[in-house]
Amino acid sequence: MIKNMRQQIVAGNWKMNTTLQEGAELAREIVERLDQPKGLVVFAAPFTHLTTVQTTVKGHINVHLAAQNCHQETKGAYTGEISVDMLASLGVEFVLIGHSERREYFKETNALLAQKVDQALSKGIRPIFCCGEPLKIREKETHVNFVKKQLRESLFHLTPEQFKSVVIAYEPIWAIGTGKTASSQQAQDMHQAIRKAIASKYGKRIANATSILYGGSCNAANAAELFSQPDVDGGLIGGASLKAADFLQIIQALK
Ligand code: PGA
Repeated sequence: MIKNMRQQIVAGNWKMNTTLQEGAELAREIVERLDQPKGLVVFAAPFTHLTTVQTTVKGHINVHLAAQNCHQETKGAYTGEISVDMLASLGVEFVLIGHSERREYFKETNALLAQKVDQALSKGIRPIFCCGEPLKIREKETHVNFVKKQLRESLFHLTPEQFKSVVIAYEPIWAIGTGKTASSQQAQDMHQAIRKAIASKYGKRIANATSILYGGSCNAANAAELFSQPDVDGGLIGGASLKAADFLQIIQALK
């Protein structure tokens, strides 16, 4: 699926949470209560849940399935890993790439993430590419250059046609799971800088069509304020995506 217009998206990143039964119930409750969302809803469920959650989202044109990771190679002797081919065969349409937890705990580098992005796109799966700075970088006020480097080294080798399928999620690391959200102005400033960087690489038309999500302690109480910013096109939600009522409220907060 290649996108050609800017979409609002609310994606739930369940991380390593929920049993299969709990995850299935969570997806079912959200989908049942979903009332004409103004954008796409994405469930980034654990690998083990994808087939089951797929049966719940099937037929709901605004609801899509994402994996939280993929391997950079096509196939082979990589015990325990999951290829994009496997994901595509389940009907997965998005994959999170470069989440800060993968970068930190699994030592994923910008160069490796570039390979994962290529793999995903080769099978028509849209990367939700996560970027964002640690607190130390924010305090040094070099966060814009830090994030631009992440984009340059993992995404800017793509052709314009390929890049059109990419969704960006800006997630300042100091805001993830900490309860410390970026202010809507901080989010807007970075999203604008990201869009500008995309414009200088791919032109204004593509930059204006790129969905840029905010992530990091986004919740039912602050989502509307964050999403009201002109360059914020929705959110990547961790903790608050595990409660159906909260997640539904966040979806309602789309502009
Ligand atoms: P959080 O996580 O909403 O729990 O801060 C966001 C994320 O890691 O994607």
